[in-house]
Amino acid sequence: MKIGVLAPENTWHFRDLCRASENERCDLVSVAYSRLLGGIPHSDVRSADQDLMSFEALLTRAMPAGSLEQVIFRMDALWVAQQQGLFCINSPKAVETSVDKYLSLVRISRAGLPVPDTLVCENHRDVGDAFDRLGSDVVIKPIFGSEGRGLIRINERELAERYYRFIEGMGSVLYLQRFVDFGGEDIRVLVIGESCLAMRRRGVRDWRNNISLGGEAEPLVMDDDLTALAVSAAQAVGAEFAGVDIGQTADGRRYILEVNAAPGWRRISQVLQVDVAKQLLQHIKRRVS
Ligand SMILES: Nc1ncnc2c1ncn2[C@@H]1O[C@H](COP(=O)(O)OP(=O)(O)O)[C@@H](O)[C@H]1O
Ligand SMILES: [Mg+2]
Repeated sequence: MKIGVLAPENTWHFRDLCRASENERCDLVSVAYSRLLGGIPHSDVRSADQDLMSFEALLTRAMPAGSLEQVIFRMDALWVAQQQGLFCINSPKAVETSVDKYLSLVRISRAGLPVPDTLVCENHRDVGDAFDRLGSDVVIKPIFGSEGRGLIRINERELAERYYRFIEGMGSVLYLQRFVDFGGEDIRVLVIGESCLAMRRRGVRDWRNNISLGGEAEPLVMDDDLTALAVSAAQAVGAEFAGVDIGQTADGRRYILEVNAAPGWRRISQVLQVDVAKQLLQHIKRRVS
């Protein structure tokens, strides 16, 4: 089976997929977002010398930064390929939804799943009230961010307003969320279709638990509620391969923090001693057969 992977050849994840593909009879081809080429009227979609329709599946990985028009064009080109029958994991719509913390959290919440109280706006004059409504202890996140970058915790109204006046000048949308005490740890669930792998993450000298910020991790045994919560959150953004971040309070309440539709699996493979790349390829084969 020929599978396109939207990731550079020299990345750990592409190499890990190649290793796993040897026993799975899959032929993996690295394709670049930046070389996408869409034709009209034949609706052909290529990337460099590859016709995307020659693949039986396309695995989307994190998209490199680009201008608004570049990002929209890439999503549109993948959508055209998907419309013509290319199996995309994840679908361009899911990728687009999950990078947007407002759109994804509102969809998760509307699916009936618990999320921390959140307010999103674009003018510093709305920040003070939002800060008060959220209990005066808030986490501010970049609306398109990942890996814990740019997250700050603020518990002074004056500071929140000043911070926003600063980032408003950069054209930022303002995303504020109630700080919830998760005891310095959170849960990362990797969802592959209906099955889940999980680890508990603990921040080191930091309230953020991201592995990229040095967080430590240990295996976590899934329970039925956690499985249902993680799978439902992934489905709410339309992703069938997803990293779901979940916080849990001391009294056992769980909140979805975000769903990542292009999750990494390096750390979770090590921590659980599981071949994630193999499971992912097997899942793709089942889906397209
Ligand atoms: N509302 C919150 N209250 C307490 N901690 C939070 C909250 N939101 C995020 N965190 C912490 O910050 C980390 C990063 O937040 P997340 O929403 O997953 O953004 P990112 O996309 O940057 O990973 C989480 O894994 C969690 O440890
Ligand atoms: Mg996260």
